[in-house]
Amino acid sequence: MQHKTFYIKTFGCQMNIRDTEIMAQTLSENGYIESCSIEDASLVILNTCSIRAKAEQKVFSLLGSLRRNKQANPLMQICVAGCVAQQEGQRIIERMPHVDLVIGTQHIYNLAQLLENSAVNRTAVNLADDYEIPRFVPDVSTSRSQLKTAPPAPPPHFQYSRFVTIMQGCNNFCTYCVVPYTRGREVSRRVVDIIDEIRLLVDSGVSEITLLGQNVNSYGRANPVSEDGTPFSFAMLLHRVAEIDGLKRLRFTTSNPRDLSAELINCFAEIDILCPQFHLPVQSGSDAVLKRMNRKYTIDQYLDMVQRLRGACPDIALTTDMIIGFPGETHRDFQDTLDLLETVRYNGSFSFKYSDRPGTRAQQLADKVPEEVKSERLQIFQKRQDEISLERNREYLGNVVKIRVEKVSAEGVTGRTATNHIVHLPPEHNTVRPGDYIDVTVSFAGQHALKAVLLS
Ligand code: 5AD
Ligand code: SF4
Repeated sequence: MQHKTFYIKTFGCQMNIRDTEIMAQTLSENGYIESCSIEDASLVILNTCSIRAKAEQKVFSLLGSLRRNKQANPLMQICVAGCVAQQEGQRIIERMPHVDLVIGTQHIYNLAQLLENSAVNRTAVNLADDYEIPRFVPDVSTSRSQLKTAPPAPPPHFQYSRFVTIMQGCNNFCTYCVVPYTRGREVSRRVVDIIDEIRLLVDSGVSEITLLGQNVNSYGRANPVSEDGTPFSFAMLLHRVAEIDGLKRLRFTTSNPRDLSAELINCFAEIDILCPQFHLPVQSGSDAVLKRMNRKYTIDQYLDMVQRLRGACPDIALTTDMIIGFPGETHRDFQDTLDLLETVRYNGSFSFKYSDRPGTRAQQLADKVPEEVKSERLQIFQKRQDEISLERNREYLGNVVKIRVEKVSAEGVTGRTATNHIVHLPPEHNTVRPGDYIDVTVSFAGQHALKAVLLS
């Protein structure tokens, strides 16, 4: 009998990576076998991202080239999932006759059923506005023994470090952002479901968990999550997760500063296994721009949060996201952004040129910044951030840090610190194993990674 085989190409954020794992598991439970190439697959899924125009263009160009694969193999099913699917829906079905199924971001759990239906009728299924994140039992098998032909083994660090979705969607409506439209309104998962999922993972050998949500700080606000319906905050969830025996590191992403509570800041002082690392996207250093972005905090308030975080946890590593060239951004506004870099001295940042997204309020704003100005400012910003990252990394020189080993090969060993720094060790240390926690001495600091030697 010919096996049904699938290949999933993932674009975008960690939420999509986690959704891809869920789709892969659902398909495996329904008799599909994962394939290591598009050519060998009877089902190809694109799990897409629409956060910026560039991400979306990548999806459409791969979709275009799949037309040829379908001609060569007319029985191949093509499914578009993720944020582009959510936004474009039926339009993809109409424009692209080689696409069989388009599923919105909430339909990953009943994927197998939808695929069966789409074999009869090409369909687009979008997100309903009121949804629930189903109870989901994760696949804890670390080997994907069913893989057809040479397996693209899961990256070894995934066996010890996993993402767990705690909430989805966003109610904040920052004016540049498509997420409230592609992921819908905020929905939080029940505490018991999250704890059960993490327990299963930890029992199977996972020692590091990253809690995922578009805006984890507002966990538990939109719907009841506790068994007795009493209010339950994100900080309470962190405390509860930290009690799980065998869990060694806990992280979370991502947060909107406007929802950062004192209770959460205290967690960094109170919870041992909570990693001293915080991604706190600021988006701009100018109050005027923040206002037009609908971020609902000022730079003074943001700096106060930074100070309190550093007070609670002096060695906390801070990272941020920055949008360069938001409509109306003046030279002065951009200088404010550069000044913020000097004040906070982030360990690292992700910076992007503003990109117009359909349906957002920012798309309607006048005073769009010309492309060449955005490029020039982005370059200036990134150059300065790179210098600061290097200076920050040099502060670790000579320090003893604990790393969780992720990869061991003939070329050497790679691991990660609690602060989320990548650390490389020379090949002579490759007697350690992925998942081990080892103490190392930092011997070299680069812009993006550290080098170290094993502490004897
Ligand atoms: N243009 C550029 N960057 C954007 N981001 C979100 N929307 C846009 C947009 N329209 C960035 C923000 C966010 C990160 C995930 O992507 O910085 O924090
Ligand atoms: Fe988008 Fe703002 Fe929500 Fe983040 S907080 S997902 S940037 S709308």
